[in-house]
Amino acid sequence: MLSTSFGLMAMVSLLEVVHAAPAPQNSGSSAPQAYTGHTSIGVPNPVEDYYISLGPRPYYLVNNMTDSALKTKLESCANGPFQITDFTIGHRGGSTLQIPEESVENAMAGARFGAGILECDTSLTADKGLVCRHSLCDLATTTDILLHPNLAAKCAVPFTPANGTHPANVVCCTTDITTAEYLTLCSKMDGYNASAKTVQDYQIELKSGADDTVTAQYAKYPAGYTQEDYARQFVNTFINKGIDPARVWMQSFNPPDIYLWLEEFPEFGRQAVYLDESGDHPDTYAAAVALLPSIKAKGVNIIAPPFNYLLMEAGPDNQTIVPSSYATTAKAVGLDIITWTFERSGPLDQVKATDQYYYSSIFDAVHTDGQMYEVLDILVQQVGIKAMFTDWAATVTYYANCFGLHGPNSADYQ
Ligand SMILES: *[C@@H]1O[C@H](CO)[C@@H](O)[C@H](O)[C@H]1NC(C)=O
Ligand SMILES: *[C@@H]1O[C@H](CO)[C@@H](O)[C@H](O)[C@H]1NC(C)=O
Ligand SMILES: *[C@@H]1O[C@H](CO)[C@@H](O)[C@H](O)[C@H]1NC(C)=O
Ligand SMILES: *[C@@H]1O[C@H](CO)[C@@H](O)[C@H](O)[C@H]1NC(C)=O
Repeated sequence: MLSTSFGLMAMVSLLEVVHAAPAPQNSGSSAPQAYTGHTSIGVPNPVEDYYISLGPRPYYLVNNMTDSALKTKLESCANGPFQITDFTIGHRGGSTLQIPEESVENAMAGARFGAGILECDTSLTADKGLVCRHSLCDLATTTDILLHPNLAAKCAVPFTPANGTHPANVVCCTTDITTAEYLTLCSKMDGYNASAKTVQDYQIELKSGADDTVTAQYAKYPAGYTQEDYARQFVNTFINKGIDPARVWMQSFNPPDIYLWLEEFPEFGRQAVYLDESGDHPDTYAAAVALLPSIKAKGVNIIAPPFNYLLMEAGPDNQTIVPSSYATTAKAVGLDIITWTFERSGPLDQVKATDQYYYSSIFDAVHTDGQMYEVLDILVQQVGIKAMFTDWAATVTYYANCFGLHGPNSADYQ
């Protein structure tokens, strides 16, 4: 269980993704930086002079919609103005579709795309640093660690090349190296070449990355260091940096983390987000729905399931998308809903053929890319989501600006 329980994340409103230590740079030369010239930690309203840029993708999606009132409305917003919005959460930074995840560059692009909240998943280093990395043991697939022989030698499972019977294998964890060593790495797109006979060939992104539930067993946690220690260190990192709790949206897949924050750090706990992935199968889905009232009763205010939990198909040919029992129950018990992850499934005409998780509850109703905004519109107008995680923040920002969505408001949880 260490794999999920040691994964803590936070989303920080309108600032750098960095807490304790920055993510590796993609280009080795420049120093770690936040939004140079725009904002820094502790400045309450940093966006006034921040210019965002959405690129062509939102226009492509609107153009591909069939005629509807929604399409007309979205077309009417083509010329902006567009502003940063906390409705848009930059998933692993916010430009993960094309830029290495959890990197400074990814987060800066997410902000440029209007993501008002930027996510950093944290992992622990050998000297108890907290760094932005989705999985404890994904360094071989998300960084160039194998090209640093001195660091590659420290990997929990050193590289073995592919041969006639076995694929290439290697596991490198953040707990294998110090924070200073981590900061010498460069990020890369998550993926690897299972046929690789050399570490250079292993870098090619053919398969998506490490399975954290399999690899995290190799993480070397400091002796005596517990999940509770981790949950406290995590919050204290923000406190020690003087970051206003109102700007910090702590997240965890592990409910006891949230209960600890509610008990010991209520100003953070009140707006902490419970990431729920407990309902992936038809039998566990019903159990996940049944648990929602008790989660709310324990003080959790915000729940974040994947958006396939929130939608279902209806109508004689399954062509209508409607809120699911999870969505209506969460709303009925007073939980606010954030959901994930938009722009992580490739072309919509292929989601069924390629068995894309996020559309799994509405496969029959989804046929073309233009329906992306129909799905988002149902999540906003019918489910009532407060914010959306996305791998390409521009798409969500366009919609949010068109409908005047500002995202979750910290004052609602005080
Ligand atoms: C949307 O794109 C698909 C795939 O390119 C195309 O087949 C379809 O005709 C487009 N729909 C509209 C309304 O433009
Ligand atoms: C192939 O690789 C595996 C795992 O690294 C190893 O156990 C096996 O002996 C290798 N086979 C040959 C023929 O080298
Ligand atoms: C994957 O690795 C093998 C063996 O090193 C190499 O021959 C092959 O070209 C690599 N694949 C790609 C796409 O680079
Ligand atoms: C509609 O979807 C349900 C569940 O996904 C399935 O059991 C049913 O066969 C579908 N109906 C049609 C007409 O495709």
